[in-house]
Amino acid sequence: MINSLQEKFSIPGLRFETTEGGLVKAVIDTPIAKAEIYLLGAHVAAYQPAGSKPILWMSAKSLFEESKPIRGGVPICFPWFGAHATDPKAPAHGSARTRIWDFLSAVLNPDNSMTVSMGTAIDGFSVVFTATVGEKLKMELTVSLPEDASESKSFEAALHTYLSVSDIHTVSIEGLESNDYIDKVGGTTPKTAEGKAIRFSAELDRVYQNTAATCILRDPGFNRSIVVEKQNSLSTVVWNPWIAKSARMPDFGDDEWKEMLCIESANVGGCAITLSPGQTHTMIAMVSATAL
Ligand code: BG6
Repeated sequence: MINSLQEKFSIPGLRFETTEGGLVKAVIDTPIAKAEIYLLGAHVAAYQPAGSKPILWMSAKSLFEESKPIRGGVPICFPWFGAHATDPKAPAHGSARTRIWDFLSAVLNPDNSMTVSMGTAIDGFSVVFTATVGEKLKMELTVSLPEDASESKSFEAALHTYLSVSDIHTVSIEGLESNDYIDKVGGTTPKTAEGKAIRFSAELDRVYQNTAATCILRDPGFNRSIVVEKQNSLSTVVWNPWIAKSARMPDFGDDEWKEMLCIESANVGGCAITLSPGQTHTMIAMVSATAL
């Protein structure tokens, strides 16, 4: 596997490795950024622009086993988000993150950023994930319904981005102040916009709908802001499991909730996407860091 990938796609700044658990990852190391992307789930597990601390968070307890989700980085949730609508046995957040994707292409761009793409077919959709690793991490999820599909089909999707923070108690997120939200911790009734930046003092699990806003995560401890921009995404999910939920998750360290949070660029629930046969949809999320 590694040898054929190496032969087919090897370019300066890209190599393939097999992990102890037998997973294959693309390791990108260019003068402007580093990243690791697993074929399991087309999962960006690490991203670090030159001169910057790592931007993505990864659990020390993540399993890195075939057919199991990776806890951290950017899981791709597709074609459903959360629990399946009708099948309680179906895996949470869809099957995209636990399958092996095909590596499709790798290009070193003139600015020394690298663009790689991976693809798969799920539930009648053809799906391509493209990541450009540079001063920003640009992630594109392109979903197509073939011309010969018998009818329109809907899907949900999320680029479930785990971000590394110095201390959850001191960070804030700007961009969603004026949006009502669904509070998954407190039931299903939408809650009214708070009119202020998000801060964390308990488990927080919110779905903001009908928002294309850029989110800015201010982190005084790391003296940086992480900026999450997006296109063709109208849902934003913000999550931190806090103490009790962390303890319940076997692949998540009991104290790790202090050092992470998720800002997920998504299209879920009422913002799910419906494609007619022959149609394509691309959702884009871009993550970058600036000094505070
Ligand atoms: C978030 C959800 O997107 O993902 C949370 O809003 C969920 O409710 C979290 O707990 C993690 O999900 P999972 O399936 O990776 O444990």
